[in-house]
Amino acid sequence: MEKLKVGIIGLGGIAGAHCKAIAGLDNIEIVAVADLMEENRQKYMAQYNIPRGYKTHTELLADDEVEAVAVVLGHQLHHRLTVDACNAGKHVLVEKPMALSLAHCDAMIEAAARNNVKLMMGFTQHFYGTSLKAKEILNSGELGPLITAVCYMSKNWGFAGRRPQYRSRYHGGGMWITNGIHVVDRLTWLMGSQAVSVSAAIGTRAHYQASDDSATAFIRYKNGLAGVAVAVGYADGGPNYSSEVICANGTLRFSEHGEKFVRVGKGETWQDVPFEDPPAEMHNEWKAFAESIELNIEPPVHGAYGRHIMEILFAAEQSAISGREVMLESGQSWLYQEQGEPVTIHHGWV
Ligand SMILES: NC(=O)c1ccc[n+]([C@@H]2O[C@H](COP(=O)([O-])OP(=O)(O)OC[C@H]3O[C@@H](n4cnc5c(N)ncnc54)[C@H](O)[C@@H]3O)[C@@H](O)[C@H]2O)c1
Repeated sequence: MEKLKVGIIGLGGIAGAHCKAIAGLDNIEIVAVADLMEENRQKYMAQYNIPRGYKTHTELLADDEVEAVAVVLGHQLHHRLTVDACNAGKHVLVEKPMALSLAHCDAMIEAAARNNVKLMMGFTQHFYGTSLKAKEILNSGELGPLITAVCYMSKNWGFAGRRPQYRSRYHGGGMWITNGIHVVDRLTWLMGSQAVSVSAAIGTRAHYQASDDSATAFIRYKNGLAGVAVAVGYADGGPNYSSEVICANGTLRFSEHGEKFVRVGKGETWQDVPFEDPPAEMHNEWKAFAESIELNIEPPVHGAYGRHIMEILFAAEQSAISGREVMLESGQSWLYQEQGEPVTIHHGWV
């Protein structure tokens, strides 16, 4: 089998999880890495037996053997590096958040389409064993029609160890854009619909920094339902990464971090449901990315979906400033593809 040859751009905190996941897959291989820091390049090349290391992304993109890249660095760089990678003919897996404006998201989607390459978001929470099991249960219809969902990520913000750019909204940092994105993704994926409006309270309550650390958003969807996303980076507390879904004929709770579980509520009691664990989420994410390239289908978390999640996040920020519900402008666009295979339930978010 021909292996997909990939390059990793940015070798900071989360790059290790990407490299580890790829090392566990027999159809993908890392042939190059890029990072401004020599020390990081040497470390990753030695640890994962990677043949080539470059200082800049431009050098890596000129490497003809590289077919696909992962953009794994600061939020403010996602747009530029993704567009450059698409223009170099490479498929792109870009870490969340997609970009810092909708115009930038559009440019990324356009660059991928024009160069006929795949663009996928690093929304890891789609690929947790617990999330996949929860979605499977919802899709099976055994709980009946969905009524509402509440998704949380409340955790220690880790102020002291957090790099300055992730504490600065100007650079795309803050709890809402950095981690609230996972909660909004999870909620929107569970609701199985596009958002139409958002009302939110977002603020900086537990730290002194140039970005928010806490957000609560009430999101209305086109299917007539509404859900709540809570993302709080507290200074001290106990973590909660759970989701709760209430359907007409059953309820569902799941969580990946802290306590790890999937539970179904029926007959006034909760039952634990087994789920696949491992593999870790990055394994499933890279598997899906490689599959979309091999089969020439849209990745399960594609650019138009990533843009929609950014639109919700930005609208929530507007709502928090204005104190009003903000209507979204996006139409049905991400339900209608212009290329590839039609989106199916197999992809997990129809
Ligand atoms: N999906 C998840 O669960 C998850 C978890 C953690 C982080 N992330 C995301 O991953 C991304 C990276 O986060 P991180 O904490 O690993 O970042 P980081 O800031 O720790 O590391 C970034 C690396 O990129 C390098 N770099 C910066 N500019 C560069 C350039 N122009 N060319 C080459 N290298 C350059 C830096 O030297 C650094 O080593 C962010 O978007 C973050 O939100 C996602």
